[in-house]
Amino acid sequence: MEVTSDTDVFPFVREKHINFIIEQDSHRSFEYWLTEHLRLNGLYWGITALVTMDTLDSLPKEEVMDFVIKCWDSKSGGFGAFPKHDGHLLSTLSALQILRIYDDELNILGNRRAQLISFIKNLQLKDGSFQGDRFGEVDTRFVYVSLSALSILGELTPEIVNPAVEFIMKCQNFDGGFGMVPGAESHAAQVFTCLGALAVADSLHLLENDTKLSNWLSERQVLPTGGLNGRPEKLPDVCYSWWVLSSLSILKKTHWVDLSKLENFVLSCQDLINGGISDRPDNQTDIYHTCFGITGLSLINHEKYNFKPVDPIYCMPSEVTKHFKKWKN
Ligand code: FPP
Ligand code: ZN
Repeated sequence: MEVTSDTDVFPFVREKHINFIIEQDSHRSFEYWLTEHLRLNGLYWGITALVTMDTLDSLPKEEVMDFVIKCWDSKSGGFGAFPKHDGHLLSTLSALQILRIYDDELNILGNRRAQLISFIKNLQLKDGSFQGDRFGEVDTRFVYVSLSALSILGELTPEIVNPAVEFIMKCQNFDGGFGMVPGAESHAAQVFTCLGALAVADSLHLLENDTKLSNWLSERQVLPTGGLNGRPEKLPDVCYSWWVLSSLSILKKTHWVDLSKLENFVLSCQDLINGGISDRPDNQTDIYHTCFGITGLSLINHEKYNFKPVDPIYCMPSEVTKHFKKWKN
């Protein structure tokens, strides 16, 4: 069934998107092999789009879970992006999100669980920040990823949470936004990771006055397209429908942007013939923008599209995250 927007400009081509997602793995194209380092993230993006459209069964559960487990790296204790790759925080969160969508108890982790927890915790540095792996750089993304992963595992502790929150607060800028590290330029995706981390850590009250930040976020809407950008002067891009709108949703201010215009922008970025969503109208589609276009639409109006509500903090179905043990300060 095609769902039509208020202005009847572009229909939402659900079935085509489902086919686009399930065919990702059979493309075996040059791009497919070039993106091996993103494979587990890609699987999470595909599964998140499917579960949001309420069609998780479109992918074979056992095969998906087997593949995820094959990506576990026993040397580091974390999940790699592909079998035999080194463990990394980004693929570790994607693995846990996928497994948790399928399995409430995460029983499939078995005795990998303890190593997994040590892998994450050992990547925290003295100032509360996290490295993505033991060779890697520091970035607020990794603080978010670690807190989210430990929260999914029910393994947050004050020793981890308190310095992490302190680090995040050092990354807020004069304009209200957040950057990758203290002093780095505000960027909407980094705002999501910082707000997400603060929300998981039950520390949003530290923002005191969030009006400046909410203003900065709402200024990301580019007219006349209605799409959102990641920084001032940049072009609008569908993935920021997620990074910006989830941030506004965490702050309970999604109405600070024109949602109807944003909805039409996302719909205009669909490939109406082959399915999939691109960053901007008529560009090449990809699974990343397909995921965040669909989760963005869910934040805008999940009922209209018969979508599942998505939790803006975890980017997972709310019906899954409502069972997470909430961290209380
Ligand atoms: C920009 O990507 C995005 C980021 C810097 C944030 C990424 C956040 C995570 C990996 C944390 C996990 C996220 C979720 C939702 C569970 P980009 O610069 O490649 O995007 P673009 O080029 O399309 O702007
Ligand atoms: Zn993008």
